[in-house]
Amino acid sequence: MSEMKFPDGFLWGGAVAAHQLEGGWQDGGKGVSVADVMTVGSNTTPREITDGVIPGKNYPNHEAIDFYHHYKEDVKLFAEMGFKCFRTSIAWTRIFPQGDEQEPNEEGLKFYDDLFDECHKYGIEPVITLAHFEMPYHLVEEYGGFANRKVIDFFVKFATTCFKRYKNKVKYWMTFNEIDNQSSFNNEFMMTTNSGLIFSKDTNNEAAMYQAAHYELVASALAIKEARKINPDFEIGCMINYTPVYPKTSAPKDILLAQRVDQRRNWFSDVHVFGEYPKETEAYIERNGYRSDITEEDKVILSEGVVDYVGFSYYQSMTVSADKIDADHLVDPSDVIAKNDYLEVSDWGWPIDPIGLRYSLNLLTDRYHLPLFIVENGLGAFDKVESNGEIHDDYRIDYLRAHLEEVKKAVVLDHVDLMGYTPWGCIDLVSAGTGQMDKRYGFIYVDKNDEGVGTMERSRKDSFYWYKKVIESNGADL
Ligand code: BG6
Repeated sequence: MSEMKFPDGFLWGGAVAAHQLEGGWQDGGKGVSVADVMTVGSNTTPREITDGVIPGKNYPNHEAIDFYHHYKEDVKLFAEMGFKCFRTSIAWTRIFPQGDEQEPNEEGLKFYDDLFDECHKYGIEPVITLAHFEMPYHLVEEYGGFANRKVIDFFVKFATTCFKRYKNKVKYWMTFNEIDNQSSFNNEFMMTTNSGLIFSKDTNNEAAMYQAAHYELVASALAIKEARKINPDFEIGCMINYTPVYPKTSAPKDILLAQRVDQRRNWFSDVHVFGEYPKETEAYIERNGYRSDITEEDKVILSEGVVDYVGFSYYQSMTVSADKIDADHLVDPSDVIAKNDYLEVSDWGWPIDPIGLRYSLNLLTDRYHLPLFIVENGLGAFDKVESNGEIHDDYRIDYLRAHLEEVKKAVVLDHVDLMGYTPWGCIDLVSAGTGQMDKRYGFIYVDKNDEGVGTMERSRKDSFYWYKKVIESNGADL
């Protein structure tokens, strides 16, 4: 395999999201986002979503790694690794601080102009997600987030403003990050970050999810239709958290359950790609009386605003067992997860499954017949700084190498059309799920811990030099 390379023009890079690294939560006229009302959690304690910002609580995204003021230094380090692209998001609240203003905030727009210029200075192509878990909190309080059809217009306005402003600086876009996370509709973090839904005891979470997700899909399709008018050369993708589902055993009831869990999780990208709901999803929604509001016009919009490529994150596979709940009684996919005896797990309990990535690349190719883009992959781990300042993160190199070996087979042997690879958290940042700093993914270490203490100084880990070599050799030397 070592002599095999990736195709010319392959987009090697790294990925982050605005709220997880920018900080500057009140700088340049920025408004409060849902990420700004989430406290720090841990491996065992979930992040608390507070009712507004409460003085005295620790909100790690407020300062994050202060990329807002360090971006020149950080982009320079990305360039040193040889990045061809850099995936980040545009914080909605920098552009429309409350979400429902008539006019955008010029200072926010200017920040991203400067950031994209800085990337282009080094030949780094920005890859931009519009909504990455950072909806304006005002839209949640005032409108109920995506429970409200009006929020479609606010999103489309935000998206269109960005398309117009950056039409000559950004070619690659994605609308909603990991839109499918909310298939875990009993998880408050997933529902708030995807849709701005805050739980109350009277809400039917599942019904609320199907309605909100529908509005998001319409918003995405409308934005894509607008984008095509602004610049026909844009490449616009969806972004899903792709987690292949395995049956625990070869018993047919496990296999049917695995298929059903896949159907519950993976219909979002079907709508993005095919412009219509898959049969089983539609049947399930109808049978339960969910998603009461879908219009004929919505259906036309969905069919017209389809994506050019499928962007996805890959961290793990999921194994399910029908021992307690079978396919016909499945409600929440989280209830049937079983241990996979063949896979090791990370310190945060995430199964490590490189072959699952090759399997996913083939499966998505067969399903969608579209180019794919791995826009997240990586290992969250504790790092140790040696007394001489070095960081020997061989576990991270091993993880990424094993995954890239499988990606290479998928591209070279199976002819999967893959646009690029942007490992997650190329610089240490705030974990989305736990709010921790010590759950690190980066090639670049940032001196700051879970308590928010540190100098913020950046340093190169061993994986920095490894990834530089991978890019230099276009993947021949893993
Ligand atoms: C993805 C998200 O779910 O996984 C990122 O798109 C997130 O925002 C990443 O950071 C890793 O998850 P975590 O919880 O380890 O930060």
